Amino acid sequence: MSKVTVIGAGNVGATCANVLVTEGIADEVVLLDIKEGVSEGKAMDIMQSANILGLKSVIKGVTNDYAASEGSDVVVITSGIPRKPGMTREELIGVNAGIVKSVTDNVLKHSPNAIIICVSNPMDTMTYLIHKESGLPKNRIIGMGGALDSARFRYFLSQALGANYNDVDGFVIGGHGDTTMIPMTRYAVCRGVPVTELLDKETLDKVAADTMVGGATLTKLLGTSAWYAPGAAAASLVRAILSDSKSMITCSALVEGEYGLNDMCIGVPCVLGKNGIEKVVEYKLNDEEKALLDKSAAAVAKTNTALPC
Ligand code: NAI
Ligand code: 2OP
Repeated sequence: MSKVTVIGAGNVGATCANVLVTEGIADEVVLLDIKEGVSEGKAMDIMQSANILGLKSVIKGVTNDYAASEGSDVVVITSGIPRKPGMTREELIGVNAGIVKSVTDNVLKHSPNAIIICVSNPMDTMTYLIHKESGLPKNRIIGMGGALDSARFRYFLSQALGANYNDVDGFVIGGHGDTTMIPMTRYAVCRGVPVTELLDKETLDKVAADTMVGGATLTKLLGTSAWYAPGAAAASLVRAILSDSKSMITCSALVEGEYGLNDMCIGVPCVLGKNGIEKVVEYKLNDEEKALLDKSAAAVAKTNTALPC
């Protein structure tokens, strides 16, 4: 029996929990929030879809009751404030660092062996904070950002190509920020053919630019940050872990020399399995890509200096 706790029953947390249950990714899901009644209500709403959809998983909502999360295999942290139009993810650090720190302490009291997935922004810095605070082995702390950014990259590529989105593959590395992420256009393919052979440079540059501001575009439209793809992306990491799939997904991982980077969490291609991050895959970068990654890492390192630890 697999058990997953999702902390934060807001837009992203509730969507993630819903995907975990409707896709049968976890047998048991606990949804926890500090707001009285919200997680109970959302969990009950999801459970009332179980009979309609023929679901097998169960979900329970609780208000700040960490005992209910006891023995979770995976914990997804989405608690914190989202950005509003015009705000960067980095501006959230003051409030969200305090929330993520206290949540992590509570989670580990009840699930000392859990793998932790951090979604709260600024995500690379929050993931690094969890490393610093918890002292857990690095494979058990995973930041979700690259899974979402890569999905957005594939979406914009499929739109430009007029192709089915399932025929497109590509990934994004670097920090989860509008100016720090790096869509890896050179490695992107459609039905096995490099997209550089199918689209001109101007179109490819526009796809990359649209990907980078993908979150900001939605924040402007919605008045708050997006949740359907973010929730699904977080659930996809849980699926890779619980099914021991060995899928390669970009995640924010603690780097120790990979890509020449150290002492930070940043988006790199990772193999995910039952132990969490089982391997960081090192692609060959050309000089331009390496320079972009170094610049991205410098920006992430600068944000990390604002941490209280
Ligand atoms: P939201 O405001 O809808 O939900 C956040 C929830 O966290 C609220 O229900 C709130 O009551 C709860 N919360 C606050 N403090 C808490 C605590 N100490 N314990 C438990 N629950 C607590 O926000 P949304 O849209 O769900 O976003 C959540 C976070 O995820 C934000 O920081 C946002 O920026 C980030 N995000 C990250 C993405 C990524 O790709 N890494 C993508 C989208 C959002
Ligand atoms: C997103 O990319 C804001 O991180 C959030 O939608």
